[in-house]
Amino acid sequence: MKIQKQILKDFHHYKGSNLTRFEKVERKVIELILSSKIPDSQREDSIVFEFKHASGCTQIARILAQKRKLNTEIADNATTLHDIYVIINGTYKDHAKLGAPIAKKLLEEIGGFSNKEITIITNAVAHHSEKEIYSNNPYVELVKDVDVFDCSLYKGAEGFYRIHKPEYIFKEYVNRIKKVREELGLSPNDIFRI
Ligand SMILES: [Fe+2]
Repeated sequence: MKIQKQILKDFHHYKGSNLTRFEKVERKVIELILSSKIPDSQREDSIVFEFKHASGCTQIARILAQKRKLNTEIADNATTLHDIYVIINGTYKDHAKLGAPIAKKLLEEIGGFSNKEITIITNAVAHHSEKEIYSNNPYVELVKDVDVFDCSLYKGAEGFYRIHKPEYIFKEYVNRIKKVREELGLSPNDIFRI
């Protein structure tokens, strides 16, 4: 098959000014991570983990959004921004609620987002820690699911959850991870044995 090169758009690899508003958000979050002045000694998690978690969650969100027939770019940005407070401040206390206004400001600064889009994204950021609540908001639920699923792919996730989360919350994490694994055609058993 002959490819018509003139109609193909080259990939920017996140360089230059030819990025969509959603890609600008992704780039901004990664730039904030790379330029952070808060050392790991003053962070609850390392900046390397924040980089890996933000990037991993973004890609998983794009996959899961396709499975769930949601807007991939909205899902991408909601997930990219979900831990924005932690990225900037290094601490997790109330990070979901505190992150929502930061996400809103960032979206407004980048520009081009409708009020509805900003509301969907910031709402998902604000409520992503409520893993034990099952809402009927598909983007809120997607961010919760992506958050726990990405973490489950790291060795040590089970120990961390069992040590730091109450039993009833741990069970909800397991439920969510199993559900995502089933959606992706992965075995729902031995979820932490990767
Ligand atoms: Fe997270």
